[in-house]
Amino acid sequence: MKITNICCIGAGYVGGPTMAVIAQKCPEINVTVVDINEARIAAWNDEDVENIPIYEPGLSEVVKEARGRNLFFSTDVDAAIDKADMIFISVNTPTKTYGIGKGMAADLKWIELCARQIARVSKNDKIVVEKSTLPVRTAEALKSILDNTGNGVNFQILSNPEFLAEGTAVEDLQNADRVLIGGDSTTAAGQDAIQALVHIYNHWLPKERVLTTNVWSSELSKLTANAFLAQRVSSINAMSELCEKTGADVNEVARAIGMDSRIGPKFLKSSVGFGGSCFQKDILNLVYIAKSYGLNEVADYWEQVIIMNDHQKRRFAANIVSNLYNTVAGKKIALLGWAFKKDTNDTRETAAMYVADYLLNEQAEIVVYDPKVKVEQIYADLDYLGSRSREENRKLLTVVNEPYEACRDAHAIAVMTEWDEFRTYDWERIYDCMLKPAFIFDGRNILNIKELANYGFNISSIGLPPFRKEKEPQKSIVI
Ligand code: UDX
Ligand code: ADP
Repeated sequence: MKITNICCIGAGYVGGPTMAVIAQKCPEINVTVVDINEARIAAWNDEDVENIPIYEPGLSEVVKEARGRNLFFSTDVDAAIDKADMIFISVNTPTKTYGIGKGMAADLKWIELCARQIARVSKNDKIVVEKSTLPVRTAEALKSILDNTGNGVNFQILSNPEFLAEGTAVEDLQNADRVLIGGDSTTAAGQDAIQALVHIYNHWLPKERVLTTNVWSSELSKLTANAFLAQRVSSINAMSELCEKTGADVNEVARAIGMDSRIGPKFLKSSVGFGGSCFQKDILNLVYIAKSYGLNEVADYWEQVIIMNDHQKRRFAANIVSNLYNTVAGKKIALLGWAFKKDTNDTRETAAMYVADYLLNEQAEIVVYDPKVKVEQIYADLDYLGSRSREENRKLLTVVNEPYEACRDAHAIAVMTEWDEFRTYDWERIYDCMLKPAFIFDGRNILNIKELANYGFNISSIGLPPFRKEKEPQKSIVI
């Protein structure tokens, strides 16, 4: 089956970069990315390619190469569905905020709307590819909607979960460890559909990196991969608390265990807690699925990863308060970074938002600087938590676009994101313009603590005892 037209529904963090790379690597295929969000599509079409709505290293170059050639962004969803041989669904699947499964299950409202739209518009056979992270057996629901409301059109459903990590999305797509394609290999039409998608990826990835499985394995593999990755972060974060009490150094522990080839060195970076759109959502989803089958031990096991992560965020914020003499009321605290990790402007589930919320509850005055996140996004995140009024959020938290301004007259600095530029600041200049004693809480362990201690800072890192000049190392402060 030859694919000449692809449509992707959803121009977000997954749909945008994935389609840009497919268009770049498959110049003979027309790729149209559609979204109901007009502002987002306008930004993707902005003449200045630097204004595309998603910041990812290398993405603007790929868009520049393919846009207008075989990559198009549009709000005309029906037209793009009609023309396509293959449709990717890359819409958002957030955790449900209402009804059964509230706070745990994935909300499939948007997926279902897409399926119904595809069924209504389609006049010829199509392959529908699930790209969004979905609970196991969603493909079955999709197929049922498509088969029962369509007009005699045949649909093949594939699961092709996304493994790209934000900040390295383009590299992860261009040089993927593996691509997973789940489909129905028991029928000839199912096999053709699988091969059509395999062929697309084979434009740039060797055959052995494109795995084919049944649909359910593919759907569950995505949740499993994210659960395992998140579990590693929670595991090292659990050890970080123990390190702080015992005098061990979590970085040394991570290095020592990471050299065991069975464990490996990646995803052992202790931090203020993981964020992002996937880890929490996918684990909650897994927990919900396990519970719905009565597998309570399985559910409890994975839920603990989230409990540990919440504890880590709270613990970090509580440590700031206890170090600042048990009160931050009226004290200026600078947060460096708001994105959930470096090299992205995505803030979904960012630890920064929860730490800020905790400190605002303690009546701190927060000033935020992030190199890529826009001010409106920061306020939207805080408002979403619903802890106080919009007016109060804007009164108590300010956003600046210059790091030295953020730190001026601050009692403390908290590093929330591991942006490279934070390492290169003139920290002596920052120290000089802060209130004394000046505190730094490094939520990412990226700063040179010896150098900073020499300037006079009191430093608390994750998984290390507090560090001050000439008194190193000190005993942890018990909170
Ligand atoms: C993740 C998966 O990696 C990706 O395969 C999937 O498709 C989507 O979810 P993403 O959330 O974009 O990607 O970023 P990731 O690099 O996995 O980081 C997630 C969070 O964990 C970030 O907040 C990051 O700072 C944190 N993290 C990661 C740590 O705290 N320590 C680590 O060692 C690694
Ligand atoms: P992800 O990280 O999964 O890509 P995003 O929220 O960044 O999530 O992107 C999902 C996009 O899907 C949003 O831009 C949203 O407007 C779009 N979307 C949701 N439902 C529909 C729909 N029915 N038709 C078209 N676009 C949709």
